[in-house]
Amino acid sequence: MPNQLNILISAGPTREWIDPVRFISNPSSGRMGYALATNAQKRNYSVTLVSGPVHLQEPKGVHLKQVETAEQMGKAIFENAKHADIVIMCAAVCDHRPLEQWVQKKKKEVFPNEIKLVPTIDILQELGIRKKENQVLVGFAAETENFEENAKIKLKKKNLDWIALNDVSQEGIGFNADYNQITMLSSEGKKVKFEYSAKEVIANKMLDLIIK
Ligand code: C5P
Repeated sequence: MPNQLNILISAGPTREWIDPVRFISNPSSGRMGYALATNAQKRNYSVTLVSGPVHLQEPKGVHLKQVETAEQMGKAIFENAKHADIVIMCAAVCDHRPLEQWVQKKKKEVFPNEIKLVPTIDILQELGIRKKENQVLVGFAAETENFEENAKIKLKKKNLDWIALNDVSQEGIGFNADYNQITMLSSEGKKVKFEYSAKEVIANKMLDLIIK
């Protein structure tokens, strides 16, 4: 790995707009991604953080790019991934967006009972296809069942070096929480479990492991 590492991190949810006042999203707080960005900055890495809408303070010394939709996040990530030694996709990207986005607010009297959704681009999978030599690609898997099995499938399918498996079936872990419990799985078959701890502690352990 070069001395001055370029690290690209995504964080937070995306918003997929239905009309000017309604969107589809998820409860991601962005805390895990921001903790990773802050930790990487303290290590003197050059850090780019692509963030969906969150209520967190901008980390000091980090190139912050704010986005809303999965499409915008994809664009910002692909632009910056070309120069990145490490990419960590921590964002909870919405898997679907409304096919149609109404320009005017849809009155409730005419609001449809069903909205047609279409898949968004899987940014991480695309990064896996475009991966540069020696680039380390890390994804997250937020699972509620068949944890390890699902994570291993994603690790392979998306051509990742590491996947951070997050059990989100329990309250107080992962999504919208200060604490996390993560198991790291590598493409080389390594398995490292981090005990339930604050996201800042997990971020430090994750970066130690990835950079080793
Ligand atoms: O397949 P799944 O959505 O569970 O994979 C989660 C991982 O993929 C996370 O790292 C997330 O940031 C990334 N992802 C993505 N683009 C999507 C959906 C998920 O990059 N549209």
